[in-house]
Amino acid sequence: STHESFLQCFSSHLQYSNSSLELVFTKNSSAYSSILNFTIRNLRFVNSSKPQFIITPFHESHVQAAVICSKKYDMQVRIRSGGHDYEGLSYVSDVVPFNIIDLVNLRSISIDIENKSAWVDSGATLGELYYNIAEKSKVYGFPAGSCPTVGVGGLFSGGGFGTIFRKYGLAADNVLDAKIVDVNGRLLNRTSMGEDLFWAIRGGGGSSFGVILSWQIRLVPVPPVVTTFNVQKTLEQGATKHFQKWQTVANKLHEDLFLHVVSGVANADSNGRKTIRLSFTCLFLGPVEKLLALMQDSFPELAVERNNCTEMSWIESVLYYAGFSTRDPLEVLLHRRPLTDIFMKAKSDYVQEPISNTGLEGLWQRLMEKEQSQLILSPYGGKMSQISDSETPFPHRFGNLYQIQYTITWDDDKETQEHLRWIRGLYAYMAPYVSKSPREAYLNYRDLDLGENNKNNNTSYAQASTWGLKYFKNNFKRLVYVKTLIDPSNFFKNEQSIPVLPS
Ligand code: FDA
Repeated sequence: STHESFLQCFSSHLQYSNSSLELVFTKNSSAYSSILNFTIRNLRFVNSSKPQFIITPFHESHVQAAVICSKKYDMQVRIRSGGHDYEGLSYVSDVVPFNIIDLVNLRSISIDIENKSAWVDSGATLGELYYNIAEKSKVYGFPAGSCPTVGVGGLFSGGGFGTIFRKYGLAADNVLDAKIVDVNGRLLNRTSMGEDLFWAIRGGGGSSFGVILSWQIRLVPVPPVVTTFNVQKTLEQGATKHFQKWQTVANKLHEDLFLHVVSGVANADSNGRKTIRLSFTCLFLGPVEKLLALMQDSFPELAVERNNCTEMSWIESVLYYAGFSTRDPLEVLLHRRPLTDIFMKAKSDYVQEPISNTGLEGLWQRLMEKEQSQLILSPYGGKMSQISDSETPFPHRFGNLYQIQYTITWDDDKETQEHLRWIRGLYAYMAPYVSKSPREAYLNYRDLDLGENNKNNNTSYAQASTWGLKYFKNNFKRLVYVKTLIDPSNFFKNEQSIPVLPS
């Protein structure tokens, strides 16, 4: 049977194995469900189709064997690092049989302060990366995301932004080299993969191109003291007026200053009337006096005062943005929580002209319909405007005021359809106020509503363009070219993988 043949193939290709380590889990393995569920971050996908094999490599040769044998026996693979994909594409597939290559054990990190660089494996989390940098130095950091459980593999290969991206760009902008296993099971580095593939995996999504094992990154300097504040305004306290000002200044602020806005639904009074509360949350790379002067200069209306601000080290700001106390031990960054207990759906947009008051009023009304709705509005500008649209596949650079992430979470599967309908309605409502032709979207906020590949036959360039142009704009064409060159049989595929041009 395919099952036995795959296992034989796999063991015959292992160059390095330690019999005490379990490498392949089948549905009969006692640990199968716990391994599968360990990094599932969205309950929407817990009852989806299950993989035939979960392979958890400890060594690069295990990844090579998994690719060679999955290809030989025509089994699709899903590649999982941190498991945070919003549509579960790293561990769910409608095409069966499929295997998961789960990189949870490939997570070593080596920091080289002297050369201001590091090698980090895809299976490491951002929390582990930040922790390891901080152990070696308090004056270096890395511009990646703010949630510590996000995996390096998915975040880097889709772009990856966080609190210092206005100064240093995306995680993908700071990648110097990478190691990848290609469709033929070859282990390649930057030189041997060539510049086209090296370009593609820094924002084009890794899963179309191969299994990226590790990344060499440039560490970036951070000052010994940074400052944060969080100032909240409800609609009754003039949130809309402050937001109007924010829309015009946030992307022009000094690049050391990241001032994002998070919306939430709150009680306006004791009668249960709802309101919107906007949190203006800041990370400034410097001391409080300098921050207050900059705020006074560019956004005095927010009236930020010294007692709104807290000075801390950069690594403490990582704790702060991850929702921990800055007094918590840094080890909290190493925790990988098991299965989360929420259902969620997210979408993204880019805003290039300030949204009018009328537009905002309708937006607030819609958000108030759902207590568990949230927007995260992240200002662009700074370094992001200086990098050309085609430098990496991530094209959302100059001309963007900010990015919106819409999310809705719920607790009961019975409510799934209603919440999906709601967020799709909100997205339709926002169309006049956001980027157009294409309506841009962030790959790492994966959204299958934008379009999907055909399940059983190849997808045309035109069909895939419906979502490909939204994620990649003009870079989509080059991604298709690279894909066709390096994986012409379209082995690495999923619902939104890059299609292959017909030969
Ligand atoms: P996962 O393992 O699910 O992989 C995601 C995709 O990448 C899948 O298609 C997978 O196959 C592919 N992939 C993963 N590893 C690969 C590898 N080694 N080789 C090839 N392909 C690979 N984003 C951001 O920019 N800034 C942020 O602050 C946050 N914050 C955040 C918080 C939370 C709670 C969530 C759920 C998500 C985010 N994100 C984010 C979005 C995040 O960047 C996105 O979900 C990443 O793809 C997650 O990477 P993982 O490795 O965790 O996911």
